Amino acid sequence: MTVDYKILDRQLDALIGEENDLLAASANFVGLLFSEIHDINWLGLYILRGDELVLGPFQGQPACVHIPLGRGVCGTAAAEKRTIKVDNVHNFHGHITCDPNSKSEVVVPLIANGAVFAVLDIDSPREARFSEVDQSGLELLCQRFVKCLAKTKQDLLNFI
Ligand code: SME
Repeated sequence: MTVDYKILDRQLDALIGEENDLLAASANFVGLLFSEIHDINWLGLYILRGDELVLGPFQGQPACVHIPLGRGVCGTAAAEKRTIKVDNVHNFHGHITCDPNSKSEVVVPLIANGAVFAVLDIDSPREARFSEVDQSGLELLCQRFVKCLAKTKQDLLNFI
């Protein structure tokens, strides 16, 4: 089974392209991706506040709320401003366990005006769940999401 990221990108645009409320758009972004991406057990946003990431809208089990910048997969992706794909979370030094069922993970930073303001985090109970195709597809969806948010009048760098 594969995800058609081009179709998902169009669905996302239809769902939030005209939405002016950051929180509502974020909640639907997370809801759409969680329902369309198979073999995952957690998907959500962490929002950058000062020098830590704070839990935002998500689907899955309750998760850790505060992640310092540079810590865990999320904090590392935010600090290094790049997507991090982990085939086996036990091999990632400093990985933060929220759901013990998670075996692989991908984190995509959300960037506006050159600055990271949040990350998208996705966990899977399957080892090596995320391919290069998933990575580029998720980056495309995140770019769409940021574009939709940027059309609102709310300040992305003081997100939600
Ligand atoms: N595993 C993440 C923490 C967040 S949870 O997976 C929801 C990390 O290492 O940053």
